[in-house]
Amino acid sequence: MTPPRVVALVPAAGQGVRLAAGMPKAFVPLLGRPLLWHCVQRLLASGCIDAVVVAAGEHHRDRARAAVAEAGDQVRIVTGGAHRCDSVRAALHTVPDADVVLVHDAARCLAPVSVIQAVVRAVLAGQRAVVPVLTVVDTIKQVDADGCVVATPDRAALRVVQTPQGFTGDLLRRAHQLPSGPVTDDAGLVEALGVTVTTLPGHPHAFKITTPFDLIVAEAVAKAVGSG
Ligand code: CTP
Ligand code: MG
Repeated sequence: MTPPRVVALVPAAGQGVRLAAGMPKAFVPLLGRPLLWHCVQRLLASGCIDAVVVAAGEHHRDRARAAVAEAGDQVRIVTGGAHRCDSVRAALHTVPDADVVLVHDAARCLAPVSVIQAVVRAVLAGQRAVVPVLTVVDTIKQVDADGCVVATPDRAALRVVQTPQGFTGDLLRRAHQLPSGPVTDDAGLVEALGVTVTTLPGHPHAFKITTPFDLIVAEAVAKAVGSG
C-alpha cells in the first residue's frame, strides 16, 4: 500500500498592511531571510511533508519562487486570491491527490517542527480536523459597536487558535466547496459542515507576525532557537 500523501498549503498572498514594511509580509526579512523561507524550511525539516504549495500574490510569484528556491521541486508556487480563504482554495485545487492537508500561514513562520509533526501525526491517527491552540491568558470582553462591554466570556473555555491546521484531504476539499464569506481559518469551514474539530497544544513560537512589534519579538525568538 502506498503511504498517505501529506501536503502543506502556505497562504502567503497577503499584503501585510498592518506590518507596513513596504513589501508583502512573506518577503519581509527575519535574520536576513524572508519569512516565507523560514516557514517552508520548518515544514520540510519536519520530515513528514511530501510537498508544499505556496499561494503568493499575483505579481509576486517569481519573488516567492526565489525565496524558496533551495527547497527544489518539493515546493510549488500558485497565485493566491483576494482573501486568505481564496488563497488556500487556489492551492488546494492543485493537490487533488493529497490524503492529509496542512494549512499553515507564512506569517507563523516560527511554528516549531514539533507542532507540525504533532498535527500530521494526529490526522494520520484518525483525527479529521485538528488545530493547535493556546489557553487565553488575558480576560476577554465582548463589546458593542460603541465599545461598551456587554459580556465577559469565561476564558477557561476559550482558546487562541494557531496554524498549522491539519485535515484529511477529502474533508478540507468538501469544506472549501461550501458557500461562505471570508473566514479567517479553515477549521471554521469544517465546523460549518458539522464535523468535530479537535485541538492539540500549540506553541508560543507559532504566533502570527502581524505588527512591527511582532517582528521584533520574532527576531528575538529566531535568534534564540535558530532555524529549528
Ligand atoms: N493571506 C493570503 N491571501 C490573502 C490574505 C492573506 O494568502 N488574500 C495569508 C497571509 O499572507 C498570511 C496569512 O494569510 O500568511 C494570515 O493573514 P494575515 O496575517 O492577515 O496577513 P496579511 O493579510 O498579509 O496582513 P494584513 O491583514 O495586515 O494585510
Ligand atoms: Mg490579512
